[in-house]
Amino acid sequence: MRSDALGHSVSVTAPAKINLHLEVLGLRPDGFHELAMVMQSIELADQLQFTSTADGTISLGCDDSSLSTAGDNLIVRAAQLLRDRSAFPELGVAIDLQKRIPIGAGLAGGSSDGAATLVGLNALWGLDFSQHQLEDFAAELGSDMPFCLAGGSQLCFGRGERLEPLPALKAPMAVVLVKDPSVSVSTPWAYGLCRELSGSRYLQQECDFEQRRQALRDASWLKPLRVDDPPPLRNDLQEVVAPEVAAVQVSLKLLSDLPGSLAVAMSGSGPSCFALFADFDSAQTALASQRQLFTEAGLTSWCTALRAEGVKLEQ
Ligand code: C5P
Repeated sequence: MRSDALGHSVSVTAPAKINLHLEVLGLRPDGFHELAMVMQSIELADQLQFTSTADGTISLGCDDSSLSTAGDNLIVRAAQLLRDRSAFPELGVAIDLQKRIPIGAGLAGGSSDGAATLVGLNALWGLDFSQHQLEDFAAELGSDMPFCLAGGSQLCFGRGERLEPLPALKAPMAVVLVKDPSVSVSTPWAYGLCRELSGSRYLQQECDFEQRRQALRDASWLKPLRVDDPPPLRNDLQEVVAPEVAAVQVSLKLLSDLPGSLAVAMSGSGPSCFALFADFDSAQTALASQRQLFTEAGLTSWCTALRAEGVKLEQ
């Protein structure tokens, strides 16, 4: 049932993700890469507020002026798609985004904002789309978006949209995350470079893809994520992006020198990188001891816990 309450608002939290595992298996007939990933939500999050309007327009405002608020923004695209799939073309909304996840970082900030929009507007506009329908819309809009909707710890296959949930986190693990604010990496560029440099080694057959998926499902470090058998962290894009992007090399070096770090890696297509810690306190202590070095290297740093859920409608 559609709600006609104008001026009504809902708020949604849109968390970032990191990749604990990103394995490029091969190339798909649709031109995307066939992937085997483990994605993990973290507490670093954007906040979105949605207020219904009477004028039938979809407008977006953001506290970060470097972000496009036009039709190319996934928030606007998600709002338009949801309205198109409803029977109510007159629906309007004013959206306010508080941007906290760095842009162009490999942390799925844009995808999480898009997923938050599907959840927020489904509630605000009273559209009653099922979770399954929202997942289909999410997959249409972007490969990472179904994960952002579900969140927590998930195996992600296909182009990233085929999810298999993992057991709930048993340990309060945390990360120190860094990014050079002057550097961003284009995802199509990173995958294009991967194809150019590693394409000759890509697997070709579905049976070989499935063997790799099964090896990941069987990995001991996933049952569940825990400190005594920490994730080894693998990101196949890191091999091709790091040699081209000095900020990634510097980030990985400084992170591996942090006392108590269990493993380090780049997230997604970069350039953000992270070090994994047994808990929030040890991450915070390690960061405090070396923050000056990160600042001198021009890196912004965060300390944030792993999170058990994805986008969340706040009551
Ligand atoms: O799906 P999404 O819009 O996030 O993808 C952005 C780009 O990243 C794609 O256009 C493609 O170049 C690359 N990509 C890929 N294989 C994937 C996911 C993304 O090649 N599985």
